[in-house]
Amino acid sequence: MSAIADLREEFENRLARAQDGPALEDLRILFLGRKGHLADQFKQMGSLGPEDRRTTGAALNELKIHCERRLKEALGRMASSAPAGGRGVEQVDVTLPGRSVHAGSAHPLITTQNDICEIFRLAGFDIETGPEVETDWYNFGALNVPVDHPARDMHDTFYLASSTPPGGQGNKDPDAYLLRTHTSPVQIHVMERQKPPLRVIAPGRVYRRDDDISHTPMFHQVEGLWVDEGVTLRDLKGLLEYFAKRMFGESTGTRFRPSFFPFTEPSLEMDVSCVICGGSRQCRTCKSSGWLEILGAGMVHPEVFRAVGIDPGKVTGLAFGMGVERIAMLRYAIDDIHQFYDNDLRFLADLGAGR
Ligand code: DAH
Repeated sequence: MSAIADLREEFENRLARAQDGPALEDLRILFLGRKGHLADQFKQMGSLGPEDRRTTGAALNELKIHCERRLKEALGRMASSAPAGGRGVEQVDVTLPGRSVHAGSAHPLITTQNDICEIFRLAGFDIETGPEVETDWYNFGALNVPVDHPARDMHDTFYLASSTPPGGQGNKDPDAYLLRTHTSPVQIHVMERQKPPLRVIAPGRVYRRDDDISHTPMFHQVEGLWVDEGVTLRDLKGLLEYFAKRMFGESTGTRFRPSFFPFTEPSLEMDVSCVICGGSRQCRTCKSSGWLEILGAGMVHPEVFRAVGIDPGKVTGLAFGMGVERIAMLRYAIDDIHQFYDNDLRFLADLGAGR
């Protein structure tokens, strides 16, 4: 019986020192576990006479119930005094290093778009924006895109449901709503609002019914427009050469090829020397040609001026448009456009680091 009294005292001493959940659990195992102190005592009862066995058994049972109740109480006390988050039951290791805070960064496409705009801002261009939902007139008509031009085909353009003619192929209603397929309609909005001289750059989202390794249904463009007396093709070439060197480095070569756009005459495309192989012609990106097409440009077509009420006999204009994804892919040497939209933080952090 005195061994039982000693056990009770030991239990109480240890309980007073137990500070947290795990310590209580250790104590429970030590006393009430299958190989614990009480189990030992129960086993030793076998050597006692019947009378002693009864009193000892009763005392041990009473101690067992006592221990269980005391442990339960202690656990309840800890839970209720623990701060939210239950730190009283969990152990806190104050020696662990702190968790670092991850700094966010601008998306590489936005960084690239901003950098493009900044280069033109330094050349005196103002930044303008326009709506992403346009009418057929702003997106095509005012830009001298003829009614039967393939760009109006439903394959390329997202028309808003309410303006889709039944079973229609394309849409010839000048008031039909669509998602703009390029940033060129901003040219029209700007010339309606402002009289020349004007120099604007217009970044933004554009939409086309395209989705493959090099296309996404939504992408970004930057449009440029400079209208004044005496603006020439030479100004256009000088400006775009300046842009290419600022964007891709001083040693970047440029090349202009004749092209066609309904809203410019003459029209051209600009290539830069391949930023991947440096023009050495052994490269997948430039298909070993040494050159990469990066933008379309030209002198504003007289019909475009007429559409906004500007006399084409008084001023001339230069215009250009480029895809931001394309420039960013070259700049960061990325070969799949979808990586920009997968939202994989490892990819974004790699490109965003330090910016
Ligand atoms: N809007 C044309 C496109 O999306 C790009 C373009 C070409 C814009 C020539 C222009 C330009 O302003 O002059 O393909």
